[in-house]
Amino acid sequence: MSVAIVRTVAELRERVAEWRRGGARVAVVPTMGALHEGHLSLVRAALARAERVVVTLFVNPKQFNSAADLAAYPRTENEDAAKLAAVGAHLLYAPDGSEMYPEGFATTVSVTGVSQGLCGAFRPGHFDGVATVVAKLFLQSGADIALFGEKDFQQLHVVRRMARDLDIPISIIGCPTVREADGLALSSRNVRLSPAERRVAPRLAAILFEAAERMAAGAPVDSVLSEAQDAIMTAGYEKVEYLELRGEEDLKPMRRLDRPARLIVAAWLGQTRLIDNVVVTPARIGRGLSVQAAMGADATASATS
Ligand code: PAF
Repeated sequence: MSVAIVRTVAELRERVAEWRRGGARVAVVPTMGALHEGHLSLVRAALARAERVVVTLFVNPKQFNSAADLAAYPRTENEDAAKLAAVGAHLLYAPDGSEMYPEGFATTVSVTGVSQGLCGAFRPGHFDGVATVVAKLFLQSGADIALFGEKDFQQLHVVRRMARDLDIPISIIGCPTVREADGLALSSRNVRLSPAERRVAPRLAAILFEAAERMAAGAPVDSVLSEAQDAIMTAGYEKVEYLELRGEEDLKPMRRLDRPARLIVAAWLGQTRLIDNVVVTPARIGRGLSVQAAMGADATASATS
């Protein structure tokens, strides 16, 4: 079995229109290829929610900060198509650069607020590139729902804001990060790790989970963050770009764990930049108290409750 592949907006629209005439709900899963189990879990989640699933494959030059990074990005279309066929996706949309950005293309979609700080601070223009291509993919596919991994948590916020602000009628669903057995978050960049780096890599997730547990138990956010940062460096990472506690719903920086949050990190291991995040839930909220009650509680009370 193989998956059908289309390369132009016109062909994509034709397929989707045909599905719609048959009453199908349509999901889109945007990707840059080099598909791994994380992407396939998005496709499965899409298949559970829609009758027809389009996966897009486009290595978007506008979201890369360096030509070297763009050139090094893995391109594995044949393998990707085979994986999509096995999982049951209905269509692979794989446009080339001139289909996506034809001669004279001059528009940028720029989302403020949630795109600032975190990756936005270290990758200038990255989220403009993401918002621009994702807006195009939403409009080209006309899908009812779109699925994104929570590993790129800031990206998920940027895409949600963009779709809401532009009144694009699509529901955006965030899906949990898929991890290797040793905890390393799946990423198309993991293939760049040397065997020695691959052994060190899962420490990042382990340190995040430990830090999240300590915060949830009431340890002060600032000291947990600085100890976790030291632990990442001691584990063998070269550089921590950022390690921050941010609000789950608004992505705002948090100094106290007084509402559901994410602990978010970007760190370099050799030549590879890895990102990850974990949920941090205040223990008192987890035990059924209201957010307001937890907001009134001090760190000691949280620690002992
Ligand atoms: O997460 C990705 O792979 C990309 O940023 C996306 C959403 C496909 C846009 O190019």
